[in-house]
Amino acid sequence: MVPGIRLIVLGKQGAGKGTQCSRLSHHYVVPHISTGDIFRAATRSGSELGRKAKEYLEAGELVPDDIVLGVVAERLAQDDTRVRGFVLDGFPRTAAQAQGLQEILAPETLDLAVELAVPTEVVLHRLASRRTCSACGANYSTERPPSVNWTCDICGGEVVQRADDTVAAIRRRLALYEEETAPLIDWYMERDKLLSVNGTGHPDEVMERLVRAIDHRRQLQLAAR
Ligand code: AP5
Ligand code: MG
Repeated sequence: MVPGIRLIVLGKQGAGKGTQCSRLSHHYVVPHISTGDIFRAATRSGSELGRKAKEYLEAGELVPDDIVLGVVAERLAQDDTRVRGFVLDGFPRTAAQAQGLQEILAPETLDLAVELAVPTEVVLHRLASRRTCSACGANYSTERPPSVNWTCDICGGEVVQRADDTVAAIRRRLALYEEETAPLIDWYMERDKLLSVNGTGHPDEVMERLVRAIDHRRQLQLAAR
């Protein structure tokens, strides 16, 4: 059986975190936990969390750390993540969240923080062409539309442009990434947890690259114990 893993995936908006985390979660048989997906689902359901998060999401602003940490702590307290681990997508995004995650996991630690490295001009093109199912969140693009008339192949929901994939919100999200999230790359490097992987090319190629790099690094970690 493939051993479990405790992994976070960092990367600019449109770097392919969601695309690759879903694959990594199947490969390592661990839950895929995307804070963005959790907030979008809460917004759709109209729950209290959704009402709090909606304005931040639509403007491309970060949801406040205390709210995000509360959601992640609750999710990581469930048995599935405690037994095999997790792939965290889009969390942490600030120094306070990285610190909070360390406290939530103690006495365990993260195995690796993976940076999906993609140039800004590539992510801008990907975000402009992305289309998403408004019901289940499945990803499509103008180049890879669903088979029938912008209806989701998986659940039949309407496939639309995400509310934060507007020019203004994309600009704000990328600026916040540079200010708040990019410094975490050094933070994890200093703790010898960082793995930087090229996120360009076909998604299958990126996935192969990721698994090769992750498995190699984990063998080194195990040998050093
Ligand atoms: P979130 O949902 O995490 O959005 P994001 O960070 O803006 O990232 P994206 O989902 O846009 O990009 P992605 O890297 O997942 O790329 P994807 O795989 O879709 O967060 C949304 C909002 O929630 C935030 O702005 C904030 O308000 C809030 N939030 C979430 N987490 C938070 C936190 N921790 N703290 C505070 N606030 C938080 O790919 C993009 C497109 O490219 C798709 O169309 C895909 O099909 C395509 N694609 C993917 N890979 C490839 C490839 N290799 N080649 C070609 N196309 C590709
Ligand atoms: Mg995503």
